[in-house]
Amino acid sequence: MEKFYIATAIDYVNGPPHIGHAYEKIASDVIFRHYEQRGIPAFFLTGSDEHGIKIQKAASEKGISPQDFCDDIAGKFIKEWKLFDIKYSRYIRTTEAEHKRVVRHIFKTLIERGDIYKASYNGLYCTGCECFLSERELDDDGNCPSHKTKPQEVREENYFFRLSKYKERIQEHIKANPGFILPDYRANEVLNQLKDAEDISVSRSRNSVSWGIPVPDDDSQVIYVWIDALSNYLTGIGYLSNNELYEKFWPTDCHMIGKDILKFHSIYWIAILMAMEIPLPKTIVAHGWITIDQSKMSKSLGNVIAPGDILGAFGLEVPDALRYFLMTTTTFGNDGNYSDEEFKNKVNADLANNLGNLLNRSLSMLVKYFDGNVSPEAVTVAENNNLAALSDKTKREVIENMDKYQPYQAAESIINLVDSANRYINEQAPWTLAKNEETQLQCAQVLYNVLEALRYVSVLIYPYIPNIAQNMREQLGFDDRVSDFMLSDLQWGGLKPGRIASKDSVKPVFLRLDSELAGDKKKNAN
Ligand code: MSP
Repeated sequence: MEKFYIATAIDYVNGPPHIGHAYEKIASDVIFRHYEQRGIPAFFLTGSDEHGIKIQKAASEKGISPQDFCDDIAGKFIKEWKLFDIKYSRYIRTTEAEHKRVVRHIFKTLIERGDIYKASYNGLYCTGCECFLSERELDDDGNCPSHKTKPQEVREENYFFRLSKYKERIQEHIKANPGFILPDYRANEVLNQLKDAEDISVSRSRNSVSWGIPVPDDDSQVIYVWIDALSNYLTGIGYLSNNELYEKFWPTDCHMIGKDILKFHSIYWIAILMAMEIPLPKTIVAHGWITIDQSKMSKSLGNVIAPGDILGAFGLEVPDALRYFLMTTTTFGNDGNYSDEEFKNKVNADLANNLGNLLNRSLSMLVKYFDGNVSPEAVTVAENNNLAALSDKTKREVIENMDKYQPYQAAESIINLVDSANRYINEQAPWTLAKNEETQLQCAQVLYNVLEALRYVSVLIYPYIPNIAQNMREQLGFDDRVSDFMLSDLQWGGLKPGRIASKDSVKPVFLRLDSELAGDKKKNAN
């Protein structure tokens, strides 16, 4: 792989960030950081979707201009992603002048090519989805199945995109490219939706929606949010503005989006790119949803959780524990659940007991028995060393799983390595070996093996828990940044002889969470 371009969905700014938005951004961040560790030039785009009725309404309810409203909420997203160490390369906002130029260019080109045409329209519009729904898509009460609200009947003269022209090509593309849509079973869902795909309305009358990009040469119409929103993936990578960047990174390698917006990405977006004769993305990954205490998050249930509030409630200074929890709560693609209990139990078990304790007790033994020194004789070689073989296997598994966009499985492999190192230290019992002169060397070697496996763990787990990983690396006697360490340099024997630890340097990397702290965290994210 020569380059890696990952893009998340861009979030509506009609409300502040919640834990579902964070889930997607964290998953993308983990994958992005992993590719950086492989020395692959990588670009990570995220941002906000700022036009449309939803936002227009939210702003007018607050009595402020839509732009001021967007500035305020986009600022909240940016702040939240900083708190969560989301290392994006660019944060795009659809209200940027550069983006508006791209959208108008696309729209104009498609009109010129005859792929966008004007016709009158009669349809049912759901403001929640910002899209038209067909009668078939409604539930038994005639409501939008996602928002449980009656769609609005709209009769307008609109511009239409000739989606029907591309549906066969899209079908062929999906069939010819396994892995284009992940998880695999979602590809069938898309193929089914394609069967009844018709031309789609891509504009709205300015009388019904004023907050949007005007149609080129027709001010009475505003470009429909999805064409506007989807084009962010081009603007964000320099299309029409930074050719060098665009040439280097296009097409998108991974679109990381929620299952609810798969249709827009795997049908509409692909058709638009086909019509524009722009190369298609490599993979579209549809992740599942995060529920709260097994219920869907919703304003009406009052269970919308702001991710930062969880950190505050548990007294966490860094986001690592929540990042780790979200990435390991479910297989990628399935829905996952957040509850205080599950969060606390999982991170206490994996990060405090399993990982943190192992590092802490092996370093403490190194200090106690060898004054913190790794002696040259203790350095073990990889051959005939089970822990070394397992560490290398874990590295391979992490790479394989990340290539399949499975951060859950990759994390599972890393935790397996920690489990094995724990079993190994218990079996070898260095505390007994330390008692006799003749088994001193063996004791030093056992500690070496465990610490070396933990050095692997610190590098492999870094994309998930960057702060804890850095702390682990420092405690293992390194003064460099774990983020700069390349996976290709991760070979057995990297732990260097010499004094790496002292009584003062050994500290827990993660303190157990106390449930009493959780308090009143579920402030409505609004
Ligand atoms: N603005 C559109 C996306 C345009 S992309 C060109 C949008 N915005 S959104 O704010 O509603 O959702 C942004 C992303 O967050 C989507 O991928 C969506 O699936 C995801 N999630 C929203 N709620 C979620 C959960 N509860 N759990 C996990 N992800 C969820 O759709």
